[in-house]
Amino acid sequence: MLRTSVFLCLILQVLGKYLAFPDTQAATDEWWRNTFVYQIYPRSFKDSNGDGVGDLIGITNKLEHLADLNISALWLSPIYTSPMVDFGYDIANFTDIDPTFGTLSDFTKLVSKAKSLGLKVVLDFVPNHSSDKHVWFQKSVQRIKPYDEYYVWKDAKIINGTRHPPNNWLSIFQGSAWQWNEQRKQYYLHQFAVGQPDLNYRSAALNEEMKNVLRFWLNRGVDGFRIDTIPNLVEDARFLDEPKIPNTGLPDTDPGTLRHIYTADQNETYDVLKSWRAVLDATGGSKKIFLTEAYTSMNYLMKYYQYGSNVPFNFMYIATLNNRSSALDFKFTMDQYLNNIPPGFSANWVVGNHDNHRVAWRFGEKRADQLTMIASVMPGIGVLYNGDEIGMIDRPMSWKETVDPAGCNAGPSRYNITSRDPARTPFQWDSTTSAGFSTSNKTWLPVHSNYKTLNLAAQKMDALSHYSVTKKLIALKRNPVVQNGSTQIILVGENVLGVVRRLPGLSPVVLLINFSDKPSTVDAAAWMNIPEKLNVYAGSVGSNIKPNTVMSTHPITLPGAASVVLV
Ligand code: GLC
Repeated sequence: MLRTSVFLCLILQVLGKYLAFPDTQAATDEWWRNTFVYQIYPRSFKDSNGDGVGDLIGITNKLEHLADLNISALWLSPIYTSPMVDFGYDIANFTDIDPTFGTLSDFTKLVSKAKSLGLKVVLDFVPNHSSDKHVWFQKSVQRIKPYDEYYVWKDAKIINGTRHPPNNWLSIFQGSAWQWNEQRKQYYLHQFAVGQPDLNYRSAALNEEMKNVLRFWLNRGVDGFRIDTIPNLVEDARFLDEPKIPNTGLPDTDPGTLRHIYTADQNETYDVLKSWRAVLDATGGSKKIFLTEAYTSMNYLMKYYQYGSNVPFNFMYIATLNNRSSALDFKFTMDQYLNNIPPGFSANWVVGNHDNHRVAWRFGEKRADQLTMIASVMPGIGVLYNGDEIGMIDRPMSWKETVDPAGCNAGPSRYNITSRDPARTPFQWDSTTSAGFSTSNKTWLPVHSNYKTLNLAAQKMDALSHYSVTKKLIALKRNPVVQNGSTQIILVGENVLGVVRRLPGLSPVVLLINFSDKPSTVDAAAWMNIPEKLNVYAGSVGSNIKPNTVMSTHPITLPGAASVVLV
């Protein structure tokens, strides 16, 4: 009895230690803790050969921009061989580069220059589907073993002698998720475009192929992967109809009309992830990272940590909060997220990406910096989408200009709700032809007409620009208080949200955000227990709050929609 309780005590002590102080050795190896990751959408970053589409040499030539920004890692959206139905997310060869982007040798040069600048390279891994032009799919159609089982095939449902899809599942890009194949005489599943057949993870041979894809790129020096649309990886084996959501007001073809209980978030998905984690962990050199893309509920999101994801993307600024959210909404959502992270793992804050409206569009140009400020001051990893560092905004597209399958499939009356083109326009480097993105006047998506004034070159000259503010915010991740301090999120007034990070013996790092469009005056010193005078580290664009000035916090007046970081 005594021996059992001593043993229990010991276990509790060890456990208690672990919970209070996550393994510091592991934390040091984990280079991604307290950094910013920068997403490059290759088609739109920099065109080096004048064809109007970005490429690898273009990216390599511009890597200094990322180093200047103090970014730790760049994540490249897909660069592999692709018919470009979904602009690279439909892959015809997982281990080669599409000629639009360059060659494997260009990729090697990119990695080597990135390393010399101290930048880690993360690739997009797209495991849910391939292109229908992939040789695996061609062989699957012909029922050649083992490829016959690489995709999700089902017989037709025959009703009154007529052929129908096996069930009511809908594609995320609208319409039935099933496509009839005349040669194989079966339907195949495509949760995205018709040209993106879903891969079948119940085939062990297929998963082995995908592990080899990971190994191929790891051998070429990459530091990890962002895993695309992971919740859709495995489907329920019973292939039952998904329940309808009543009264959505959406057309029957819209995936928003179904509860995706059989096509997303299945338990086996997590096991597949675990099998890939083992591949990463078996690789030498510095620790490798997995970032996972899952628009899902808190429980499913947090589960990714346990199965090997280091950064299960936190999409709260995209999926939960918007420009009508209050200070309290933000506090509640941020607290809820922090309270759910399992011990020892890092938080993350996704400011924007290529699938959603730009942050300056979602929250307004004045508010865009607030989200980067939160990502910077809060513990963990900030994720920035290229162009957000200069406050680029959406460029609305006409139906004729629309190329994104998510937009095209929705048709002329609804494309503007679903199209992602507006957030994917070329990066605005300067005020020359095509914003310095390309020497050609004709680019794959139009350049936003505001490029003459809104561009990187102009913002570099201005200490109060989005660029200058973002650069400082990224550097703040190196501040020891931001790296190791405690975190409190405080409602300082109805419209003012405060975050305070503290580490004994050092000045606190304080963030204040005014959610009202009118000036707000609050006694931050009293409510947040912070010094009555602090230095301005950065003020949001348009606030006219200048860095390196002293501000009183007792009280403090924040202009409408302004935010400030004080140290
Ligand atoms: C992910 C990508 C998106 C793509 C889809 C299908 O959501 O971010 O751009 O269209 O997966 O691969």
